[in-house]
Amino acid sequence: MLTADIRSRFLDHFAARGHTVVPSAPLPTPDPTLLFVNAGMVPFKPYFTGEAAPPWQRATSVQKCVRTLDIEEVGKTTRHGSFFQMNGNFSFGDYFKEEAITYAWDLSTRSRAEGGYGLDPDKIWVTVHHSDTDARGIWRQVAGLPDERIVARGDEDNFWSMGVPGPCGPCSELYYDRGPALGREGGPAIDEDRYMEFWNLVFMQYERGEGPGKSGYPILRELPRRNIDTGMGLERMATLLQGVDNLYEIDEMRPVLDHAADLAGIRYGADAQADVRLRVVADHVRTALMLLGDGTAPGNEGRGYVLRRILRRAVRSMRQLGYGDPALPELLPVARDCMAPSYPEVTEVFARISDQAYGEEDAFRATLKQGTTVLDTAVTTVKASGGRTLPGAQAFLLHDTYGFPIDLTLEMAAEQGVEVDRDGFTALMNEQRERARADARTRKSGGALDTSTLRAVLDEHGTTNWRAWETLTTESRILAVLGTSGRVQVAREGEIFSVVLDRTPFYAESGGQDSDAGRLTAASGEAEVLDVQRPLPGLVVHQVRITAGELALGDAVVAAVDAEWRLGARQAHSGTHVLHAALREVLGPTALQAGSYNRPGYLRLDFPWRRALGATVRSEVEDVANRALRRDLSVAVRWMTLPEAKELGALALFDETYGEKVRVVEIGGAWSRELCGGTHVEHASQIGTVAVTSEGSVGAGMRRLEAAVGIEGFAYLARERDLVTRIAEQLGAPRTELPEKIASLLDRLKAADRENTRLKQQTTHARAGELASAAVDANGVQVVTTTTQGSTDDARALATAVLDRLPAAPGTVAVALPTGTVVIAVNQAAHDTGLSASDLVKRLMNGRGGGSPHLAQGGGLSPDRLTSALEDLPRLIAGH
Ligand code: ALA
Repeated sequence: MLTADIRSRFLDHFAARGHTVVPSAPLPTPDPTLLFVNAGMVPFKPYFTGEAAPPWQRATSVQKCVRTLDIEEVGKTTRHGSFFQMNGNFSFGDYFKEEAITYAWDLSTRSRAEGGYGLDPDKIWVTVHHSDTDARGIWRQVAGLPDERIVARGDEDNFWSMGVPGPCGPCSELYYDRGPALGREGGPAIDEDRYMEFWNLVFMQYERGEGPGKSGYPILRELPRRNIDTGMGLERMATLLQGVDNLYEIDEMRPVLDHAADLAGIRYGADAQADVRLRVVADHVRTALMLLGDGTAPGNEGRGYVLRRILRRAVRSMRQLGYGDPALPELLPVARDCMAPSYPEVTEVFARISDQAYGEEDAFRATLKQGTTVLDTAVTTVKASGGRTLPGAQAFLLHDTYGFPIDLTLEMAAEQGVEVDRDGFTALMNEQRERARADARTRKSGGALDTSTLRAVLDEHGTTNWRAWETLTTESRILAVLGTSGRVQVAREGEIFSVVLDRTPFYAESGGQDSDAGRLTAASGEAEVLDVQRPLPGLVVHQVRITAGELALGDAVVAAVDAEWRLGARQAHSGTHVLHAALREVLGPTALQAGSYNRPGYLRLDFPWRRALGATVRSEVEDVANRALRRDLSVAVRWMTLPEAKELGALALFDETYGEKVRVVEIGGAWSRELCGGTHVEHASQIGTVAVTSEGSVGAGMRRLEAAVGIEGFAYLARERDLVTRIAEQLGAPRTELPEKIASLLDRLKAADRENTRLKQQTTHARAGELASAAVDANGVQVVTTTTQGSTDDARALATAVLDRLPAAPGTVAVALPTGTVVIAVNQAAHDTGLSASDLVKRLMNGRGGGSPHLAQGGGLSPDRLTSALEDLPRLIAGH
């Protein structure tokens, strides 16, 4: 059964049982405790904790996930994927254990003809938390499982949390017995390879606090409602249903693995170490594709670094397999074709994805070249001073400055008979990691602040008197000054601290609207407000930088929002509502906003939609929005109960939190009616203009509109106009004729390219003739060695052309490139004498290279070493 089929059966099963199908959230998550979504429940966290009212009681999704903590395990075990998909069903205060177990059992064992997975019920084992007698009883009753196949386990295995404070609870896991060939009898406690876990049912009912490990934390409270969170590993189910050994061999990954093996000229299954590398390649190429698809770009920190590391590991694994050419242009399209059935957007945005990936590979290849020189110099110095160990600081420098992976340093140092001080290296790495962690903690959102400290402030002083809707200025008092290590008395010039006030006019980031900018002014000093968040309900925290003097606990301050900023924020937020209404007017009510963000001058809005909008629809949406501004629709704020709001058809969007009465913002009465806590303009014309700047995919079936608003909108249009003017001037054509002009230029360019290729071929042929006539004889084999400029493709073309022009006698041609790569071609007659191109490459290049018996290539020698190696080729052949 194909993975895409397993996926849709899951969604159908739960949709038929009253669950709303929710599209996967993008991999990068705004959750401050995570870089990427790493479980199906992550996008639903606010509903589990009670921070937000769930829009549905039951939901189901297939969520894209990335986990890279155990990246070293990838390829070595049968079941670690850095990217995977988690199929989940969720109950928010609705059903609990009994239905969760029944639904999972039913789907797993129902026949394939009837839409199930058709697993053999006699091969399913389950685990339960040792205290959970309910779950045991339900398994007995629902599935008729005998007691010995219901295994009781402790907190380590059967209590689930995300590793950080948040929702958690006991869980029950389903395992499938893959047969005696894979391990010992006795259930999941004995062998997790033979008994493969495929589904985890979490009975979520507690909230946990800070603490290490899987059980070293306190349980803070019962959640307001009991919930269900389940995760079925899509790849694991595919492994089971496709009868393959491991998840790298399923239909979504095997083609990449096979192509990698072809490129390297090896066979999967022939060599255990090479197999691990092939699996790493298959896994990492897919992960990189999906991360790039969701908008992560390679970089040096955070998400970007994770992606960079994955791309580099893929490239490096290919090199270790003997393939020295750019590998991603070969592999990434294969991964795309594997994933497109479930994620059509990877095809839509492939031009961007591939640009970024190939650019990264090129840069890494350059890095490798440069790093090799640094390493060689360092090794020479060590040896010259009589040492045998490369200092940890050198390895760290290579890693940190040249992006040289440590395993590469180890391997290449070992080749030259030198060890590396690993402990020294690790110590430096740890220091750096600590710095990065501290960095991430202070990143945003009072994330640096410890929840228990915040709770204490809230207990002591109560909620903040929040005045953002009424005023831009308040006279306030400082109730707490908070740093990463707790409360302090005073914050001094240059320092960044968080401040809690008794009352504030600052808007705290929520409902998509960014926080206000402004200042706090006291008698003794001044601070700039960098960020405002509400980390606990009712508690507003201002992150500030002290710009002059100091601010101390108890100080009286004037808290003043920057009026310009707030005007821009109101324009952007009202603009978001207008664009949303326009979108729904044009596309219909299913184009419901799934997420949004706005700040002065800018807004973006995500909505579920399967296709790109296209220029016409895009303009129509923009037009409807700007007509609403021209009609100057009035903006009204009304308070009512939630049922009243629903009755009026007000839209309640994704991540809002609502109390007793809800706030409804109307633009033009019923034209736009949304529950919203944001700040808005009074009349639509105050928005100025809404200029759509882009529209694109941000994940499966999810699109994003971006727009410039207000004065920024006009500025954007002016820039576009200037751009067109410049292009028209450069091309010397009137602006209305630009498209035709550019089309004709492109045609001419293509014709010139074709002519260029033709001339190149002619030259190659002419050169090939000359080279062939200068062949030297090596014990009956005609040998030609030469160097050429150009790409590996050019080298291959030349080698083959020379071979074609040799007389019928046995012949071998080697063409080197200034980059240190060599291509060797061997004709049939030479092959009949026992010569093989891939053997020759390996012997010349110290094992680094590979290919077929007739055509092979290798790399990694310096150009000088390569030249002298080539001089040796005739001797090598004569003596073979
Ligand atoms: N959230 C649970 C897990 O990730 C289902 O295993």
